[in-house]
Amino acid sequence: MSSQVKPQILFRRDEIEATVKRLAAEIREDYHGKYPLLIGVLKGSFMFMADLIRLLDFPLEVDFIQVSSYGRGRLSSGRVRVVQGLHSEVRGRDVLVVEDIVDTGLTTSFLLDYLRKKKPASLRLCTLTDKPSRRQVSVSIDYLGFTVPDRFLVGYGLDWNQKFRNLPDICVLEDEEPGVV
Ligand code: PRP
Repeated sequence: MSSQVKPQILFRRDEIEATVKRLAAEIREDYHGKYPLLIGVLKGSFMFMADLIRLLDFPLEVDFIQVSSYGRGRLSSGRVRVVQGLHSEVRGRDVLVVEDIVDTGLTTSFLLDYLRKKKPASLRLCTLTDKPSRRQVSVSIDYLGFTVPDRFLVGYGLDWNQKFRNLPDICVLEDEEPGVV
């Protein structure tokens, strides 16, 4: 990818805001009064999580986890490991995983298995974006923001080489190499 990459808006900030509002309403319906534990997957979910929880007007807990794929890119071995663990007790809790994107599904699938072993009372997944065209393992999504095309996305937490996370809109990179993440 050249250094001349230029983000083009795919979802504007107001569309994102409306979608986060819709998701918050769905989550409120299911979790109000349950004191859920929301687990954000670093780094990409930090902005989504921050906006989402400000719309949830009931007691909840927030934690973060960071996982990493072995090897280079997401087309690697598919082995995933936890690089920064949780501080909260998961056992018996109503856990909602908050992701920025489900792509191959390898990360989310690993994470859901990892959390399931900790015996939560319930375990669900909320993702702002879903790229089903790239799926390698099946993942069940409970709360979905946008279904996205097979393009390289940046902004609103999503990065390319750690850059562009700070863009307020979700963008595609103009100069992209298809299939490379
Ligand atoms: C992204 C995203 C998901 C994962 C999804 O994280 O936040 O966790 O990729 O991809 P998959 O479905 O193909 O496994 P990434 O590894 O880019 O790290 P980041 O959140 O720190 O940018």
